[in-house]
Amino acid sequence: MTARVIDGTAIAAEIRSAAMPGVEAFARAAGRPPGLGIVLVGENPASEVYVRNKAKAGGNAGLWVDLQRLPATASLGDLLALVHRLNRSDQHDGILVQSPLPDAMGKGASQRVFDAIDPDKDVDGFHPVNVGKLVQGRAHLKPCTPSGVIEMLDRSGITIGGRHAVVIGRSEIVGKPMAMLLLQRDATVTVCHSKTPDLPSVAARGDILVAAIGRPGFVTRDFVKPGATVIDVGTTPVRDRAVVEQLFGHGSPRLEAFAKRGSVVVGDVHPAVAEVAGALTPVPGGVGPLTIALLLKNTLAAAEARSRRG
Ligand code: GUN
Repeated sequence: MTARVIDGTAIAAEIRSAAMPGVEAFARAAGRPPGLGIVLVGENPASEVYVRNKAKAGGNAGLWVDLQRLPATASLGDLLALVHRLNRSDQHDGILVQSPLPDAMGKGASQRVFDAIDPDKDVDGFHPVNVGKLVQGRAHLKPCTPSGVIEMLDRSGITIGGRHAVVIGRSEIVGKPMAMLLLQRDATVTVCHSKTPDLPSVAARGDILVAAIGRPGFVTRDFVKPGATVIDVGTTPVRDRAVVEQLFGHGSPRLEAFAKRGSVVVGDVHPAVAEVAGALTPVPGGVGPLTIALLLKNTLAAAEARSRRG
């Protein structure tokens, strides 16, 4: 069997097109486009790429994107002051602070920053009020990556209700909210992590397997039930040619990409899983574009809700 490849780029384009009339209607009524403030602290290379892609996609979709950069030496106080300014702004409907933050900001800094964002502008869905509402099944702003995964499954005709979904990874950003969303759609959900005994055999019970651990090629064939749908959330830049060659084999186009750029982005799912899975999301071109499309959708939803409140 060779897995059907789920085209995240095409699904994300559908979502963006569907949001376009809403963006135009908001801009006509409000006299300004929906506004998104993106905050990047420091120079983490992966975050630079994500933020650039988010800002570019936002601009193309007709949003006003305000990219605010702080140096790696900025204090947590500087960052919180910026967040408070964006909270008070009338032009910013959505606020996103890219994580991870520099280690120098201290342990727990990300959570303190997410706690400080106005929940009505929290387009990441990370504020405790929005997390609580998500758990209760009444969230307005849901985390972008997990809601993008649900959109992908729905738009690819993959049934969620009554199936067994296994999520590998328990992060606040993906694993935990992913489990909640799958549960709300009537899946039976297992969440596993680094301390789960016999991880491959637990994962192999999943009709739907979501890998969100950030370890390139970690999910091998033995983790996958034949015919399962495998969603790869991993996007780790790999800078070691030997690792790329070991994963993708001699003569792979990935090695040419590596030669050009000195790194390639690799998912959590080993390429050989394509021989076992029924459907599979690629990296790149799978979950990543969905995360961005859902961010745009959340920004529009936040803008519309703010204008309704007046
Ligand atoms: N870092 C990796 N993914 C995300 C995300 O979805 N939102 C934010 N703010 N930071 C991230």
